[in-house]
Amino acid sequence: MAEAELRRPEPATTAGPPSEAELAEGGLRLEVDGAVATVTLARPERRNAMTFATWRMLAAIGRTLPPEVRVVVLRGDGPSFSAGIDLSMFSGGEGGFPFEADDETGDRFIADLQEGYTWLRNPEIVTVAAVHGHAIGGGFQLALACDIRIAAEDAKFCMKEPALGLVPDLTGTKPLVEIVGVNRAVELCLTARTVDAAEAARLGLVERVVPTGGLDAGVEALTAELLAVNAEAAVATKRLLFAAPLNTLDEQCAAERREQLVRLRALAAAFRG
Ligand code: CAA
Repeated sequence: MAEAELRRPEPATTAGPPSEAELAEGGLRLEVDGAVATVTLARPERRNAMTFATWRMLAAIGRTLPPEVRVVVLRGDGPSFSAGIDLSMFSGGEGGFPFEADDETGDRFIADLQEGYTWLRNPEIVTVAAVHGHAIGGGFQLALACDIRIAAEDAKFCMKEPALGLVPDLTGTKPLVEIVGVNRAVELCLTARTVDAAEAARLGLVERVVPTGGLDAGVEALTAELLAVNAEAAVATKRLLFAAPLNTLDEQCAAERREQLVRLRALAAAFRG
């Protein structure tokens, strides 16, 4: 990913953070506690199925996150992380997909939804998906958009889109291929099979597995570990790690030197007082 893509997006408007009512319309809750923001998918009666409003609201959260936030946790209320897109989005009518739109309008429509996911790669934050129950389609892609996936033993992942005649289009194909390789990604997507937490861990799709019921404690422990690391070094290191697959060795070595010189000078200045 190019460095420019990884900067915190400029607010599209001067509007402040979304109100509770706006968040609720997107089926979301947001709690900001110092350096930790928790975004909760909050439609358990629909297994946290997500609407276009959900993704637009996620984008708005990304645009208006307070600068002191270092860790963003995404979690789901009820029995599942997320059942993916709310299938009513395909039934037409107001708020549904604009099937009649021309190419440019349709492209812009989907790009706006993808913005709900892209900010999660921002180097100024570490993003954690806390997955339990099902993570299907857009829900799986949301987990893939995060830096770290922590899963309960009951977690199940499924890229259901091809089975529904669709492609995964919420930024998920790139991280999926980067994690499991193109052949495994083809096998997973084109069978639309379900991967349990144990297999997800073997494939590198989740970084940590915790007992069912132990997700909140697992997230708390992980968050504490992340916050214990120097904040500026964390930002610079995430920037480096995301640039690594796109750089040649020479380019990456140069990037390491640039980042390290900034760090060394900052540490020396702090040492001198
Ligand atoms: N959209 C709308 N409503 C949904 C939903 C969805 N994606 N998933 C579940 N619900 C609703 C159900 O209709 C049901 O509603 P009622 O109580 O009114 O009947 C309620 O949520 C509970 O669902 P279940 O009784 O099915 O709950 P379960 O725990 O037995 O099963 C589940 C959970 C495995 C997630 C199952 O509900 C399911 O398979 N849901 C559909 C998943 C799906 O196909 N998602 C689309 C993926 S593709 C995608 O996401 C595309 C994209 O981004 C581009």
